[in-house]
Amino acid sequence: MAEHSSPPPRDSVEINFRTRKWVRPEDLNANGTLFGGSLLKWIDEEATIYAIVQLGNRRVVTKFMSEINFVSSAVQGDVIEMGLHATAFGTSSMTMRAEVRNMITRKSILTVDRIVFVGLNEEGQPFPHGFTEITYDRDRMPQEPLA
Ligand SMILES: CC(C)(COP(=O)(O)OP(=O)(O)OC[C@H]1O[C@@H](n2cnc3c(N)ncnc32)[C@H](O)[C@@H]1OP(=O)(O)O)[C@@H](O)C(=O)NCCC(=O)NCCS
Repeated sequence: MAEHSSPPPRDSVEINFRTRKWVRPEDLNANGTLFGGSLLKWIDEEATIYAIVQLGNRRVVTKFMSEINFVSSAVQGDVIEMGLHATAFGTSSMTMRAEVRNMITRKSILTVDRIVFVGLNEEGQPFPHGFTEITYDRDRMPQEPLA
């Protein structure tokens, strides 16, 4: 029998589902359901924007993604929504949790318990961001162009 480790405690009440995507023909796999690669690309982009807003730094990179469990899917014409929530702030990094839901079937499509982003300086080295709490505003948005 397959072994499944028990998921860590969930915090989904705090997740804001901000971005929606419409599943188009080019997003399908050979089974006619949503292609995982398209979904992961959308999540990574969404997480990048979230990290920029939280760390006030446009030079952020994905460092780590934990296990991804695709529990249900979507078909052409479905609408999915993605949500993220910061769960920890390190020195140069931040960790977030992601969830994707199908707005048509109302089922969860996947969760990613840990996505870690690192903020870098102009030399591409980890850069201390100084933040310990989530912002729900745009107060940290960088104003200067990238060097
Ligand atoms: C991001 C990068 C500069 C970090 O370099 P590094 O030598 O690992 O740096 P550090 O060891 O100082 O770690 C930096 C931070 O990442 C965290 N980190 C490193 N490895 C990690 C891992 N496997 N899982 C989770 N966090 C990790 C560290 O804990 C540290 O966090 P903190 O500063 O908040 O304490 C380097 O790994 C890199 O360039 N990776 C490629 C990133 C990339 O191209 N991503 C895909 C495209 S966006």
